Amino acid sequence: MNDDVRWTTVCAYPRLEPERGVAALVDGEQVAVFRTYDGRLFAIGQQDPISRAFVMARGIVGSRGEAPTVASPLHKQVYDLRTGHCLDVPGVAVPVYRVRCRDGLVEVAPRPQPAAGDS
Ligand code: FES
Repeated sequence: MNDDVRWTTVCAYPRLEPERGVAALVDGEQVAVFRTYDGRLFAIGQQDPISRAFVMARGIVGSRGEAPTVASPLHKQVYDLRTGHCLDVPGVAVPVYRVRCRDGLVEVAPRPQPAAGDS
C-alpha cells in the first residue's frame, strides 16, 4: 500500500483519557483528538465553526443514536465525530482528520489538499 502520509504524533494512547479531548497542531492546523469509552479515536478541527473559537477539544463527548458526538463547549451544538457534520445546524461541519494508534502512539494525518479543480 502506498501510504506516504506524514503522520503527526499527538501523544501516547494511555494519556488520552476517555471522553476528554486534547488539542494538537498537525501541519499548522489545530486539531481536537478524542478517545471514546469504547477505545475508538476521532480527530476533528479544533475551531468551532459557529463561534470561530478554537475550543472543540474542551467539548463534551457523548453519543446520539449510533453517532459518537462532541458538543461545542460554547453553544452546545452537537457534531458527529465520524463525519464532522453538525447534528443541530444543517450545513455546518468541522473538518475530520485521519487518526490512528501505532506502537502505542496516537497519530493524526494532515487533511488532504483538494485536487485542482475541486471546489
Ligand atoms: S492501542 Fe495503540 S498500539 Fe495498541
